[in-house]
Amino acid sequence: MCQFIHIFLLLIVCSTSVKTKDDDSKLLSFVQLFRHGARTPVMFFKDDPYKNVSYWGGLGRGQLTKEGKQQLVELGRLMRRRYHDFIPENYSAGFFKLNSDTNKRNIESMQKYLQGLYPSITESQYDINIDSSILKAFISPTFILQYLKLTVTSAKFRSFMKEHKKLFKYLLEYGKLDVPIPERLAHSYVVYDVLTTEKRNNLTLPEWTKSVFPENVTELARAFGKTMGYNRKMQKASVGPFLNVLVDHFDKISNQSTEERILLFSGHDINLMCLLNTFDVFDQFEYDVPAFANSIIFEMREKDGKHFINGYYRILDHPDLYPITFKGCAFDCDYREFKERLAVVRMNYKLLNRYNLDVTTETFSKTSLYQSLERLF
Ligand SMILES: *[C@@H]1O[C@H](CO)[C@@H](O)[C@H](O)[C@H]1NC(C)=O
Ligand SMILES: *[C@@H]1O[C@H](CO)[C@@H](O)[C@H](O)[C@H]1NC(C)=O
Ligand SMILES: *[C@@H]1O[C@H](CO)[C@@H](O)[C@H](O)[C@H]1NC(C)=O
Ligand SMILES: *[C@@H]1O[C@H](CO)[C@@H](O)[C@H](O)[C@H]1NC(C)=O
Ligand SMILES: *[C@@H]1O[C@H](CO)[C@@H](O)[C@H](O)[C@H]1NC(C)=O
Repeated sequence: MCQFIHIFLLLIVCSTSVKTKDDDSKLLSFVQLFRHGARTPVMFFKDDPYKNVSYWGGLGRGQLTKEGKQQLVELGRLMRRRYHDFIPENYSAGFFKLNSDTNKRNIESMQKYLQGLYPSITESQYDINIDSSILKAFISPTFILQYLKLTVTSAKFRSFMKEHKKLFKYLLEYGKLDVPIPERLAHSYVVYDVLTTEKRNNLTLPEWTKSVFPENVTELARAFGKTMGYNRKMQKASVGPFLNVLVDHFDKISNQSTEERILLFSGHDINLMCLLNTFDVFDQFEYDVPAFANSIIFEMREKDGKHFINGYYRILDHPDLYPITFKGCAFDCDYREFKERLAVVRMNYKLLNRYNLDVTTETFSKTSLYQSLERLF
């Protein structure tokens, strides 16, 4: 991409830019779902010394921090470098569809991302579609009940729990949260979340954490991440509606019936976990559970009149994007094959309620796990 004559001047710029595909395929569209940036903890330990807002620059719970804002500006800049040939020089509302969960931290994350793409953009230039339905569908009642079922019926799950019995007991005793979580593995995940957040803010962690953090607690957090979308039913009841929106969009790109080329979603860790598990690539990443501002990208490309999908995972603080595949499809996944492989987990959002009918209101209201996970959303 660098012209020879400019090589000396551009060397630095080029070496830090993300390499896009260098075959002669043509990018038609991309869809990106990112996790919001670093935030203050959503919950604290019962006797947490850092509950006071003075430790968080005056911010209350679950708010995007200064660092979090910067992470999203960086993500926007990275995308500008990667897609400089594709993204219009000046913002054009019809080219983008911006979707965000209703939380302030998600909306602000989207705003910061746009600022990274267009440094002088103002809020009056764009509209964010603030709607949590597709993103929150990831923790639908059926999904939660399937998870709870897994905790009692899966031999693998139970043996994992048994193996770490002592650790769970330890965390329940020392890591009590001020909002109790009614399931041990989910509880451990929130413990992980609070500790990583406090550590990143340079707060000295309590003495009891020394023997179990980060190693042991991270192992549990990863196990939690892996169960988010563990089987087909859970996948369908979480990512189903999102994948439907995705395919619908790419269909419209294929038949040239939309001007929207870039779809963005400002979401959460559980969104990323469920997607990675649905595509069978969660274990491909040796890193912890999805960090703040991590994202997943779906590109639709065209070559020789054929459409195919490329997938990438972007990890915070890593300069490269990692290629991912979809349920065993080749990296250049023929679009028809992409649709076929995902057909078993796609579903219309309107049908999600019908799919949830096996969940009686009574059983569901007993599961305050939903309320707990919702707080993370
Ligand atoms: C939080 O810290 C500030 C400053 O140290 C103090 O004035 C305030 O009383 C504290 N608030 C609570 C609820 O402890
Ligand atoms: C972008 O906007 C600037 C300033 O209004 C203008 O000079 C430039 O021609 C525009 N670029 C395109 C590609 O429209
Ligand atoms: C923490 O992990 C280490 C290394 O795997 C293990 O030896 C130790 O027993 C674990 N501690 C607890 C409390 O589970
Ligand atoms: C924590 O400390 C590191 C190293 O001194 C610094 O770079 C970073 O900005 C600090 N983070 C916060 C949130 O203060
Ligand atoms: C293009 O695809 C969309 C989504 O499948 C469909 O609703 C629309 O009718 C199609 N338009 C044309 C012109 O084929």
